[in-house]
Amino acid sequence: MAVTNQPARLVVLISGGGSNLQSFIDACGGDNGTGRLDAKIAAVISNKPDAKGLERASQAGILNIMVDHRAFDSREEFDANLGDVIESFDPDLVILAGFMRILTTDFVNRFIGKLINIHPSLLPAYPGLHTHQRALDAGDAEAGATVHFVTPELDGGPAILQAKVPILADDNATSLAARVLTVEHKIYPAVAQWFCSGRLQMTNGQAILDNEILGQTGRAFSQDNER
Ligand code: GRF
Repeated sequence: MAVTNQPARLVVLISGGGSNLQSFIDACGGDNGTGRLDAKIAAVISNKPDAKGLERASQAGILNIMVDHRAFDSREEFDANLGDVIESFDPDLVILAGFMRILTTDFVNRFIGKLINIHPSLLPAYPGLHTHQRALDAGDAEAGATVHFVTPELDGGPAILQAKVPILADDNATSLAARVLTVEHKIYPAVAQWFCSGRLQMTNGQAILDNEILGQTGRAFSQDNER
């Protein structure tokens, strides 16, 4: 994105607990351990009325809106309405943070290049749901999370940053999900800062960081690229 003196404007979409949202709130407010995010959350939007993340937004004094998908006759109508609400905030970056809706191609194309998601697996492994259980069932030694640009293919857009965690002998899906979340909270705001500072963009369907085309699994997370 073009860098100006103004902080970048973020719109965050949630459906549930909002722990990733919290990592953005913390990073925008100061150093959350992964470095400061020079951005402002213009709005938080949930498709579910009981999403705990809405409370997190309220507590942080951030405008929060509920757009209930059940109030619409079709996915297309919901997505068109949601897109209008998002656009009214003129965001530089739209962040899917546990937003549990499959998005139409029209919606994705409306925001393409400034729409990112975090997925709790080492993409391209395990797109879709139940990622932790699938990794356990496969006997994998590692799991993790991937931040990627969103394209119309579900969880198929170009990867930006990926973090790994070990799978332990006594893990179940809940314990593994909790361990993966701890790295999610590090890598997601870090990617947003790359984007907001003009270092990251999507061009011709590829993720480009500091003029380098990223590979299939994106940059590997390490302490060195936290900032
Ligand atoms: C995270 O695991 C994220 O990767 C996935 O949904 C979960 C959302 O968690 N897309 P939270 O609502 O941010 O706590």
